[in-house]
Amino acid sequence: MPFSIRQASGADSPGIVDVIRAVFDEYEFTWEPEGYHADLYALDAHYDGVCDRFFVAEIEGRIVGTIALETFEPIPGVSGSVPVIDGFYRVAGSDCSLERLYVHPDARRQGVGQALTEHIIALAQAEGRKQMEIWSDKRFGDAHRLYGRFGAAVVGDRICHDPDQSPEWGLAIPLA
Ligand SMILES: CC(C)(COP(=O)(O)OP(=O)(O)OC[C@H]1O[C@@H](n2cnc3c(N)ncnc32)[C@H](O)[C@@H]1OP(=O)(O)O)[C@@H](O)C(=O)NCCC(=O)NCCS
Repeated sequence: MPFSIRQASGADSPGIVDVIRAVFDEYEFTWEPEGYHADLYALDAHYDGVCDRFFVAEIEGRIVGTIALETFEPIPGVSGSVPVIDGFYRVAGSDCSLERLYVHPDARRQGVGQALTEHIIALAQAEGRKQMEIWSDKRFGDAHRLYGRFGAAVVGDRICHDPDQSPEWGLAIPLA
């Protein structure tokens, strides 16, 4: 099925929640509308459309995939290390991050996840970003194969601040 990618607006919240909640149900993760998932219910407040951008993939007008790109000043520290910044492990040398990549279970294996990832990598590269940071649940093997195709390397791990305290890999994708 052909799909398209576009920047999201606040009106897309229900479709975005539908996709990400389906993935959380699939993995039996906790859903937390007023905590870990609050950004999904107030996109305009959390994503300014400039430094923090949220994108959706659609098939025939239905949102089936999501991804966000956040950009920031380079994280200090020796390349390949994971310093603690403001209480969180981060990937040193990164100046942007991949966030919220999810594809609805019934829309997988048609290239949506790869296209969403390509979309934000191309955007980050066009803006001169040097390294993309990703923190990803250790159980998301499909995603780790996908990231590997973009040159991602594991540089560390941490326990996520999500309600399930999920163990995560920290990965870096070189962009330059
Ligand atoms: C990881 C995830 C986003 C991938 O989404 P997706 O849309 O299925 O990704 P793609 O279709 O681009 O690629 C997935 C597989 O399908 C294959 N594929 C792509 N297009 C295909 C097609 N037309 N026909 C057959 N296979 C195809 C890819 O080669 C890839 O194969 P692999 O798993 O053996 O490496 C999705 O599985 C997901 O949401 N997982 C749960 C949440 C998650 O892991 N999120 C990451 C958070 S950090």
